[in-house]
Amino acid sequence: MRDKIRHPFWVDVDVVERTGSTNADLAAAVGLPEGTVLVAEVQDAGRGRIGRAWTSPPGAGLLFSALLRPTEVPRERWGWLPLLAGVACVDALTGVDAHLKWPNDLLVGPERKKAAGILAEVAGDAVVLGIGLNVTLTADELPPDRPDTTSLALAGAPVLDRELLLPAILDALAENYESWRTGGDEALRAAYRERCDTIGRLVRVSLPAGETLHGRATDVDAEGRLVVDGRAIAAGDVVHVRPE
Ligand code: BTN
Repeated sequence: MRDKIRHPFWVDVDVVERTGSTNADLAAAVGLPEGTVLVAEVQDAGRGRIGRAWTSPPGAGLLFSALLRPTEVPRERWGWLPLLAGVACVDALTGVDAHLKWPNDLLVGPERKKAAGILAEVAGDAVVLGIGLNVTLTADELPPDRPDTTSLALAGAPVLDRELLLPAILDALAENYESWRTGGDEALRAAYRERCDTIGRLVRVSLPAGETLHGRATDVDAEGRLVVDGRAIAAGDVVHVRPE
């Protein structure tokens, strides 16, 4: 996989057979340069958003983390990075319908089910962006308690080769990151809104404090927050409510 990564931004791409979590590994490794990538075939303690676990059978997913050091960008803008990673995933996929559920779940296929999740973690002056993409998982291999999940294979995506998918995502990530770093949030916001399937939908949002909000998502604001019935939400778990 390593020799297929051509974008000069990525200075080191390591592939390991097994680890706990690629996010945890990069977050713990002080001093690694920006542009370091760690890929794992299997994770024993894969981390998901909101304290959830991320599991994937050996070889069936693309599991990796990328280390960024946006030191010249004010920290209040770093919240855009997980959304930027979602945009990069949409842009990297070809031959399959792909959208984002706010903030960054990758939805694919006509049923718009989740095929990838993104976890951004701050570690000192670095941000670790972790991406877990379900590539060839069968229906039996998906989490039984998550009927809203799928894999690229189940959604009929034509490209299932992880050696093609990883370079495509890394290329798109580096390009989006470099434009955002130098150009600001507005172009990214426009790209994000175009790819976001949440805007316009009825949603149920579980907020970190335990409150649940029902309403219509109308926008993603200049800080990357989801606007639901006029209220800007910075963090939460969103469900798209299907009309009866
Ligand atoms: C989510 O809950 O939707 C985010 C899942 C992120 C999973 C990826 S897999 C590679 C990287 N390492 C981790 O421990 N988590 C992320």
